[in-house]
Amino acid sequence: MKILGIETSCDETAASVVQGGVWVHSNVIASQIALHQAHGGVVPELAARGHITAIAPVIEAALAEAGIDRTGIDAVAVTNGPGLAGSLLVGVNVAKAFAYAIDRPLVPVNHLEAHVGANWLRERGEKAEPPALPAICLLVSGGHTELILIDRPGRFRLLGRTLDDAAGEAFDKGARLLGLGYPGGPAIQRAAEQGSSTAFELPRAWLGESDDFSFSGLKTALLRQVEPYRLPVEKAAPLAPGLFAEHRAPRFADGLPAADLAASFQEAIVEVLTVKTARAAVAHNARTVMLAGGVAANRPLRQRLGEEIDRAFAGQPAPRVRFPLFAFCTDNAAMIAGAAYHVLLRGEQAGWDLDINPRLPLRVVIADSAHE
Ligand code: KG4
Ligand code: ZN
Repeated sequence: MKILGIETSCDETAASVVQGGVWVHSNVIASQIALHQAHGGVVPELAARGHITAIAPVIEAALAEAGIDRTGIDAVAVTNGPGLAGSLLVGVNVAKAFAYAIDRPLVPVNHLEAHVGANWLRERGEKAEPPALPAICLLVSGGHTELILIDRPGRFRLLGRTLDDAAGEAFDKGARLLGLGYPGGPAIQRAAEQGSSTAFELPRAWLGESDDFSFSGLKTALLRQVEPYRLPVEKAAPLAPGLFAEHRAPRFADGLPAADLAASFQEAIVEVLTVKTARAAVAHNARTVMLAGGVAANRPLRQRLGEEIDRAFAGQPAPRVRFPLFAFCTDNAAMIAGAAYHVLLRGEQAGWDLDINPRLPLRVVIADSAHE
């Protein structure tokens, strides 16, 4: 079964064809980074308009890359939440029109569920390797930080979540404070490579034995370090109606230790995430530990997770650590088409009245096995 997936929940316009919930036949992404860069972050209205112009060519490219035409598609899947309302509306409407035109089922997909499911995806021709259960998955994206226990196929339990900022949001805000630009995660990772992670002692919110997270104190501590170097920013001219504010990059006096601060900041996030994930893996006898979401692309996070798992299991048989391929960490449509297969297996299909839900919560259910 081949499913066309469509993803427009934030600032990437994406379409993909995935077979049997596992094998990725195409994965096309039109990034809007350039569109939003001048504003220092995603501008929702610009994002929605960007999707409208990009979506049709992106779908055409995904079909061409998969080597099929519209009639080769068995179902059309789309993210209907969570995400930006205007952005979600574009994908859902296009998916409805497409499914209606080719007379195939329309499948609603939860964006968070899809991020977790990215661990099931494989390149075309590879062997399917469903993760051994029980598994712990740390979902870290721009809007979410969630520690999830998957104890049997189809059953997902939320162990902990962030009490304030999401991990990706912390990276983005940290990068903004340091004047490193948008998107923040890759910018902090790059700057950190030139710095020392022990240069600054930044706080970690351990929150006792809890599986929850908190990053707002860390952000404030970074601000305190940066403050003495900040210079006044030029005031922007008042805007005409319909225009969006240009981002004024912060200006700093000489000597701001940006690389050391980036490295110390990244270390504080990575340490808390990995130590808590390893602790949960021990507590629940996990056989697999997985990452998901945009922050899962962070190399130090991937490396440190393996180290903390080894440390926590000291000598005992350790769970296998697995990550989605880099291309399936940040927003993409392969994860939507992959998760949709399992949604269909559960017998869930949308009617033509499918609505968006910008605040759709995590309610993950993915079957364990994949079939052609
Ligand atoms: O999953 P995603 O693409 O979108 C959401 O659903 O939110 O995640 C985007 C987030 C952003 O906050 C971005 O800064 C972060 O993922 N990110 C990274 C890296 N690449 C993307 N954070 C740390 N290191 C990276 N290499
Ligand atoms: Zn996402």
